[in-house]
Amino acid sequence: MGSSRTVGPIAKVRAAKPTSKSRGVEPISEGRGVEPIRWKAGRLRLLDQRKLPHKETWIELRGAADTARAIRDMVVRGAPAIGVTAAFGLALEARRFRVGRVLADFEKAARVLAEARPTAVNLAWAIERQRQALLALASGGEEPAPAAAARLLRTTAEDMFAEDVAANRAMGAAGAALLKGDVLTHCNAGALATAGYGTALGVIRASWEKGRRFGVYATETRPFLQGARLTSWELVKLGIPVTLVTDGMVGALLASGRIGAVVVGTDRTAANGDVCNKIGTYTIAVLAKRHGIPFYVAAPTSSIDLGCATGADIPIEERSEREVTHIGGKRIAARGVSVFHPAFDVTPAELVTAIFTESGVVKGDYKRGLARAVASARGPASKAAVAKPRARKATKAAARKSARR
Ligand code: MRU
Repeated sequence: MGSSRTVGPIAKVRAAKPTSKSRGVEPISEGRGVEPIRWKAGRLRLLDQRKLPHKETWIELRGAADTARAIRDMVVRGAPAIGVTAAFGLALEARRFRVGRVLADFEKAARVLAEARPTAVNLAWAIERQRQALLALASGGEEPAPAAAARLLRTTAEDMFAEDVAANRAMGAAGAALLKGDVLTHCNAGALATAGYGTALGVIRASWEKGRRFGVYATETRPFLQGARLTSWELVKLGIPVTLVTDGMVGALLASGRIGAVVVGTDRTAANGDVCNKIGTYTIAVLAKRHGIPFYVAAPTSSIDLGCATGADIPIEERSEREVTHIGGKRIAARGVSVFHPAFDVTPAELVTAIFTESGVVKGDYKRGLARAVASARGPASKAAVAKPRARKATKAAARKSARR
């Protein structure tokens, strides 16, 4: 992708006009979908997902610090969207890189971004990919020129954006035929959680686009309500019938015989197929097993972490207790109560029927299948990922050298 390539139209900084026909949700028109990240003419704008479904407002970002804040505060969320946003954040920050200090300035910005949220591996993956691109530019041991570094980080971010949408479409094509009957999904793994199209919702969309007709059940997804606020909004826009259930209703729903398949996204899937996703996913997987319902995971290879042998190695984020004690800013829990509030859980591989990746469907031997899927998606770049620890050491050494200059 050239440096002038546009990956999204310029944001209109105003709320969408509700129509009475769509009960406040404008349907997606031909060729235009939900776009959480807009990058045009070097400007990065994020759809503020905290305000959805009531308002469509956009926030413009200027560098690594405000990009990290937007990720931490959930302006943008969902593993692939977080990764792509961080890549653009580095491209924005690159405009401030100093002559002779490019690698050191990059590492400083990378640290700020990497600390924003711990669980979604896409964040570390995107930063690492930018780091590798920069290192290749500095391969002769010379500090890259700031302008060249900025150009490269920008085109790499644009590539990541385009690749994410393509991966989602490929996953959709791979998984669509396996969905049967009505489908249950959890959290939001739609276009909003990605550069576009969606992972789990991408599979649902692809199945719908093939002409299969079915309903989708979306969990509310306590405590942050991504299902109630975001998934239901996206599905209404797509014209796919959606029924909202609270998380506690999932057992009764699966026992009712209405659901033919469960499909969810993932923030990080370990080498053995253990799947980390939004809190409550594990409960759904156990219930799906109990009722003989297939449990599918849509995992772009950017969400697969071969460096984590099992789910036990995955860091689980804990966010503010207020997400549990409050709803919409209003306290609902008694003062003085303690809160247990992991934001994610791990579903053991044995409960997962199949994993959809952009390289195809992985089943059975996840260790082998996921390693193959990653190698096939990344091609020669996967060798760089394997060499990651060494490469990072090399960048740090180069950064130290550059800082001393
Ligand atoms: O806390 P969030 O909203 O970032 O969590 C998002 C999820 O858990 C999604 O299911 C996951 O990122 C996959 S999205 C394609």
